[in-house]
Amino acid sequence: MKDFGVQPYLFPMPTYMIGTYNEDDSVDVMMMAWGGICAEDMVALNLEASHKTVENIKKRGGFTLAVPGIDTLDESDFFGILSAAKAGDKFARTSLHAFKSARVDAPVIREYPLTLECSLAEIQQQPYGLRILGKIENVLADEKILDEKGKIDAGKLRAFAFDQMQNGYYAIGEKIGKAWKNGAKFIKK
Ligand SMILES: Cc1cc2nc3c(=O)[nH]c(=O)nc-3n(C[C@H](O)[C@H](O)[C@H](O)COP(=O)(O)O)c2cc1C
Repeated sequence: MKDFGVQPYLFPMPTYMIGTYNEDDSVDVMMMAWGGICAEDMVALNLEASHKTVENIKKRGGFTLAVPGIDTLDESDFFGILSAAKAGDKFARTSLHAFKSARVDAPVIREYPLTLECSLAEIQQQPYGLRILGKIENVLADEKILDEKGKIDAGKLRAFAFDQMQNGYYAIGEKIGKAWKNGAKFIKK
């Protein structure tokens, strides 16, 4: 075994897209790997305070958190590179589409297959960084990721994960087991 010291090395890291509105109602989207679900109806975002997204969430009280598909990998990576603080309407540089959420003051990106519409619940100024907690007000899913029973089929998302060790993106898709089932055989021993 080799030592790597203190590093944020876990895999898979998620790739989630935070959607907000700038003050002129243009759309801002940023990529986030350090965050996710933190309660049944809550999400946690670990963000650098300098991001335009943070200012936007504070002003509008809401955001969307979406799972991008591989078909938007280039655009999604771009949203993780350029800040709206420097570039203004960075969303307009892509050909993605957005519409206003019916529940929160934030944009839904049409091309992203799964979106959580979230209201701002709490801003935590921690000694080790800024954490924003959001309450999930609704889940929006594109029809194309639903199975025949109308449930969300994770395999159809064509999501991708982030590798913090070598900055790679990895496709997610193959179903290899069933949670709370595969391990159950050991209970009887
Ligand atoms: C793969 C990837 C993961 C990222 N994860 C985070 C993260 O978890 N937290 C964060 O503050 N910034 C993260 N970023 C950086 C922001 O997405 C980036 O700084 C973005 O330009 C901020 O946009 P904004 O200033 O328009 O809000 C990530 C970027 C990439 C490419």
